[in-house]
Amino acid sequence: MRDSARFFEMKRRGEKIAMLTAYDAPTARAQAAAGIDVILIGDSVGTNMLGYASEREVTLADIAHHTRAVRRGAPDAFIASDLPWATYATPAEAVASARELVAAGADMVKFEGALPEIVRAIRAAGIAVCCHLGLEPQNHEEKRLKGKTAADARKLVADARALDEAGQDMLVLELVPEEVADAVTRAVKAPTIGIGAGRRTDGQVLVIVDVLGFTDAAFKHNKRYADVGAAMRAASAAYVADVHSGAFPAETNTFKMPKDEAAAFLG
Ligand code: KIV
Repeated sequence: MRDSARFFEMKRRGEKIAMLTAYDAPTARAQAAAGIDVILIGDSVGTNMLGYASEREVTLADIAHHTRAVRRGAPDAFIASDLPWATYATPAEAVASARELVAAGADMVKFEGALPEIVRAIRAAGIAVCCHLGLEPQNHEEKRLKGKTAADARKLVADARALDEAGQDMLVLELVPEEVADAVTRAVKAPTIGIGAGRRTDGQVLVIVDVLGFTDAAFKHNKRYADVGAAMRAASAAYVADVHSGAFPAETNTFKMPKDEAAAFLG
């Protein structure tokens, strides 16, 4: 069932929600087979996969393209897609952008910032909406912890409450102290999903390239479950060496004509 109501029920029962980003069909297929609760096509696709310098370069067409790929790989998964920077400046623009991502296969859209009017507009269009507070990569150039002072923490809780009153279906909290994420989680009805927000949110999200270890980056908030970057480098180097030395392709990788056809052809 691809209904965001399920996540409110999970929060009520104290069941943790597992979210991961994915940007392509095979990764989505693997996550669906693993029982992922939500797949996020985050605008982190820009810096992680598309070679952009910033999340702000990601376009709606980029997210729609990757959403379609993820949907093909995981036809039954619950999918959330990011509204990229500058695609939700007004309620009307937000609804039009959200509709495009739903048409591409999203069940829910996510945007950054304390914008209750955007939540109301997207919900009124019948589309589920996930908000995103704390570190907002589209809006904060410096990637550091938010909500460290009592005043900032109180503002975060107030913003989260306003988004909740507007009808948010989920709330991502990025890089905030555990105490703040805990206070927000208790203050709102919507399930909270933390990344670098400690242990007391209703669920967790990580960026798949960090989980798989594509790069050597060692983020405190991350847990690396594989070393895919090293495996990619080793496999590529072995292939290049094999081609240069003639070791690949081998007899076993080679196709032959039927003997009689080869004789007729080669004379
Ligand atoms: O774009 C993204 O991957 C995200 C996660 C960090 C939550 O927004």
